[in-house]
Amino acid sequence: MTATKGLEGIVATTSSVSSIIDGVLTYRGYNIDDLAENATFEEVVYLLWYGKLPNRSELDRLLKDLSENAAIPAEIIDQIKLYPKNVNSMAALRSAVSSLALYDEEANDMSKEANLRKAIKLQAQIPTIIATFARIREGKEPIAPKAGVSIAENFLYMLTGKNPEKIAVEALDKALVLHADHELNASTFAARVTVATLSDIYSGVTSAIGALKGPLHGGANEAVMAMLEEIGTVDNVANYINEKLANKEKVMGFGHRVYKNGDPRAKHLQKMSQELGKITGNLNWYNMSIQIEEMVTGQKGLKPNVDFYSASVYTSLEIPRDLFTPIFAISRTSGWTAHILEQYDNNRLIRPRAEYTGPLHQVFVPIEKR
Ligand code: ACO
Repeated sequence: MTATKGLEGIVATTSSVSSIIDGVLTYRGYNIDDLAENATFEEVVYLLWYGKLPNRSELDRLLKDLSENAAIPAEIIDQIKLYPKNVNSMAALRSAVSSLALYDEEANDMSKEANLRKAIKLQAQIPTIIATFARIREGKEPIAPKAGVSIAENFLYMLTGKNPEKIAVEALDKALVLHADHELNASTFAARVTVATLSDIYSGVTSAIGALKGPLHGGANEAVMAMLEEIGTVDNVANYINEKLANKEKVMGFGHRVYKNGDPRAKHLQKMSQELGKITGNLNWYNMSIQIEEMVTGQKGLKPNVDFYSASVYTSLEIPRDLFTPIFAISRTSGWTAHILEQYDNNRLIRPRAEYTGPLHQVFVPIEKR
């Protein structure tokens, strides 16, 4: 038995949720470029869960279901109030999502209907948890979700207490579309491994949030912004990047296990970053990003991934840096739950092997003689 480090190139399951073929990303066969330009996030959620684009009445039904399930239990709000104020926001989300199961009578009902209802609750309540956490840690009262608006609009409203600008809603909605699913990425794999034991959907999504948190995965968008803030101005980019590359350090937001000729999502976020920079009158983050891209691509041949330009997009939307990865989780909940439902539909325990590299034939020595 020979191990493949990082399971690179290993095909671990079949899936009809999304595909990456020859560098082209599709959700259920629809090209991401098409969806980014034309679909709303809720249409994409429907597409991922049901395998087809919704007609008007199907979409209205989903919007109603999401709206009616967006409020979180009072016990979760009370629990968030007890979290330390400076706690990592993904750790807070992971804890609160795990706790949601405690207040859902259907948590252990494994019927398809109950699992779909739980997917709706998770998709609707995760934005509310994040906004609630963000307000409580600042000593503010949480804001209840509004009925009849999109997830993107509701999230910005619950975060700030103000009705967001149309342009901000559209930008966040497009970012949600772009992050919704991505074949067998690390967090989706974690979700599938968890539920393949026939554990519940809340356990699957909690595992996924834990996997997304790391800087090699979803945590990279926050790391990109930390880097941009550290660099400060365009004039400092060259020295900073040259030093990083000379020290063989990774530049966050670059590289990808699957894409070697560029991440098809990055160009949409780059365009949004520039447009929002013009609107806010601050193109500093965008200009720095462009120069970093030129250097890292020029010197290492590495292209930006989805996380690179999302950092400046979210900053232009005045979203605090440590909410970037939780926003990724809002979007990816649609993909995680679609994959979980698919796993339940055709389940087999996921249990690979390890190549043993430790000593063999050890002789047991009693504790007194060690
Ligand atoms: N900056 C500098 N060098 C890099 C980078 C980078 N961002 N990414 C890869 N490399 C180099 C590595 O140092 C390594 O070089 P070596 O062969 O000389 O040692 C080589 O490219 C291969 O890198 P690995 O880390 O082995 O590639 P892997 O496929 O395992 O990792 C990953 C992919 C994790 C995305 C990697 O490119 C990385 O760490 N990027 C930065 C973090 C990041 O942006 N993550 C978000 C990914 S997208 C997402 O999850 C949503």
